Amino acid sequence: MALYSEKVMDHFRNPRNVGVLENPDGVGEVGNAKCGDIMKIYLKIENDVIADVKFETFGCGSAIASSSMATELIKGQPVSEALKLTNKAVAEALDGLPAHKLHCSVLAEEAIKAALKDYYDKNGIAYDPADFPDTEDCEHCAL
Ligand code: FES
Repeated sequence: MALYSEKVMDHFRNPRNVGVLENPDGVGEVGNAKCGDIMKIYLKIENDVIADVKFETFGCGSAIASSSMATELIKGQPVSEALKLTNKAVAEALDGLPAHKLHCSVLAEEAIKAALKDYYDKNGIAYDPADFPDTEDCEHCAL
């Protein structure tokens, strides 16, 4: 069996939503201290819906494929749904990632959460801190 699914290869070779958004409503940047990869997510939010999303990822192929798939999964979704996106859902949508690459999809979940938190903070919207756990030392992210 190939190490990477066709979907991973497709999103790695032709990533969707790459780039920067002018005047974003929320920006989230996270990094994996161990591998040094960085992911940045830009959100445009209109009427509580993710109207547009772009990403910049400096990282491995799985991180790029995860960012691409994650942006596709939240685009057009209500903010409340985007907040529920898990790395597991991203990995599943990619038809799986090798076990030692699952942490790359964690980066996508974290970057989206960070961008949503930025949006809430900028607009003075109250939120449940439990939705934004401190994941810096998250064991899933260990290489
Ligand atoms: Fe670092 Fe994939 S190896 S995010």
